[in-house]
Amino acid sequence: MIQVAMATSPFLFILLCLFISFSISNAIVPSADTFRYVNEGDFGEFESEYAPTYRPLNPFTFPFQLCFYNTTPNAYYLGLRMGTRRDGSLMRWVWEANRGSPVRENATFSLGSDGNLILAESTGQIVWQTNTANKGVVGFAIESDGNIVLKDSSGNFVWQSFDSPTDTLLVGQSLRINGGPLKLVSRDSITNNVNGAYSFVIEPKRLALYYKNSMRYWSSTFPELNRANVTLVNATLRIAETDYEENNFHTLWCRLENARDFEQPYLSLGTIRYNSSLSYLRLGIDGNLRLYTYRANVRGNAWALLFTLFDRGVRTSTGADDPVDECQLPSRCGKFGLCEESQCIGCPTPNGVFAWSKDCDVKLPSCNASSFKYYELKGVDHFTVKYTSGTKSSLDSCKNKCTKDCKCMGYFYHTDGSKCWTVNELKTLTRTGNSTNLAYIKTPANGTTISGAKGYGTKCDVKEILMP
Ligand SMILES: *[C@@H]1O[C@H](CO)[C@@H](O)[C@H](O)[C@H]1NC(C)=O
Ligand SMILES: *[C@@H]1O[C@H](CO)[C@@H](O)[C@H](O)[C@H]1NC(C)=O
Ligand SMILES: *[C@@H]1O[C@H](CO)[C@@H](O)[C@H](O)[C@H]1NC(C)=O
Ligand SMILES: *[C@@H]1O[C@H](CO)[C@@H](O)[C@H](O)[C@H]1NC(C)=O
Ligand SMILES: *[C@@H]1O[C@H](CO)[C@@H](O)[C@H](O)[C@H]1NC(C)=O
Ligand SMILES: *[C@@H]1O[C@H](CO)[C@@H](O)[C@H](O)[C@H]1NC(C)=O
Ligand SMILES: *[C@@H]1O[C@H](CO)[C@@H](O)[C@H](O)[C@H]1NC(C)=O
Repeated sequence: MIQVAMATSPFLFILLCLFISFSISNAIVPSADTFRYVNEGDFGEFESEYAPTYRPLNPFTFPFQLCFYNTTPNAYYLGLRMGTRRDGSLMRWVWEANRGSPVRENATFSLGSDGNLILAESTGQIVWQTNTANKGVVGFAIESDGNIVLKDSSGNFVWQSFDSPTDTLLVGQSLRINGGPLKLVSRDSITNNVNGAYSFVIEPKRLALYYKNSMRYWSSTFPELNRANVTLVNATLRIAETDYEENNFHTLWCRLENARDFEQPYLSLGTIRYNSSLSYLRLGIDGNLRLYTYRANVRGNAWALLFTLFDRGVRTSTGADDPVDECQLPSRCGKFGLCEESQCIGCPTPNGVFAWSKDCDVKLPSCNASSFKYYELKGVDHFTVKYTSGTKSSLDSCKNKCTKDCKCMGYFYHTDGSKCWTVNELKTLTRTGNSTNLAYIKTPANGTTISGAKGYGTKCDVKEILMP
């Protein structure tokens, strides 16, 4: 019909287009479905994650509810809380609009008839918005899976909170390679709600964890992706009935899908004996990845921790989803320390390895090559070594690379394979006990010896290497 119209009368066609765009842009949110909440009044009295004060808002779907919450006075975030029952179970924050940009008392959260969802200060200054004005939005909802959505008249999502995760994935939520959210970013600390140092990222061939965006401390290995020469499209948190178990067993997966019709790799995140899609995967403040599940009919203690990527008492790991020893966490030993079997066992210094405490730190040498030297640790690896390939080089050129780079804090070398890693932050070193793994730490050349400190064991050989 359009073709006919075009052929017979271009004018009619233009009119038709105008009519279509007019009717779309003119879709409005019925006034009964618009809202405007003001951040004021009494606080809720139940316990929630990060121990904030909070004000619940009306929109909710069991067990999800929107709230304003603050961990520091007069700095509020609009968050989605999971856990609405007043039974003593902790309520947890699974999505938020304005991390890093808090609003004050009397801020407003509103949906106008134009379909734009806005978080604004009481002065009217917009802090966060969905940018969906005149895009056909007719309504707002919190879906049963925790997805906050703006729908058009056909029920399609014009905007969804699942597309803007912070540190949490709910069941059904995805990281996507093409145009979707690529990563989760950790929260800085309990009280400081800004982006932290860790990220969980989907890449064409793997999932990976990074410290400060560049230092990889974990990645999944899916050899089947290379064998079949396919790349990933998305990673989606899913729950599925297990086919080999009796009734009522369900498996939680982080399923990695690719564009081809090919077996999809996954991370197995645990099995539950009930059917509940009320679970979430969280990149924690400490850079660890955990899966929590909410048992809707358990009173008082509704949450179960089902999966922890970096865990205690882990000896070896071979599979993509096998837990890894906690020593692999960059900040396991704070600013600096030597770690073995999840324990911080020593504080390396140019004068030997001493007992570890959280004061263990490195002395920053000046940039001038004649002002620093290196000391050697044997049988030690950096947290980036295990999941990155290093560069093939001689020990000397590895050292030169670090010496020339002001930001380099030390270098790591595997004599077996001649592999070199230079690092800008030391953080947690893992004791491997393998004498082919060497570490060289920069230290001021004029550094004074620590008097009175007693050497700690003989687990590492420490030897001074003076600059030529
Ligand atoms: C919030 O608004 C109310 C009513 O307009 C006003 O009484 C109150 O002082 C305001 N609070 C702050 C902290 O501005
Ligand atoms: C793998 O796939 C890419 C892109 O589809 C193609 O360019 C490349 O030739 C393939 N490699 C092999 C070994 O089949
Ligand atoms: C993930 O990718 C698969 C394969 O392309 C697709 O069928 C599926 O709809 C995607 N899921 C999401 C949530 O994007
Ligand atoms: C499990 O729950 C989901 C969503 O609530 C539902 O779609 C599915 O049919 C349930 N499966 C079983 C075996 O009850
Ligand atoms: C580096 O230190 C040496 C010896 O202390 C000094 O002679 C030289 O000028 C310094 N170079 C720079 C760039 O500061
Ligand atoms: C030390 O590491 C190398 C490879 O990096 C390995 O071949 C060797 O078996 C290891 N030795 C011990 C004692 O674990
Ligand atoms: C050691 O050198 C640094 C910079 O090269 C200097 O700031 C510091 O004062 C020196 N310390 C001593 C004890 O000489």
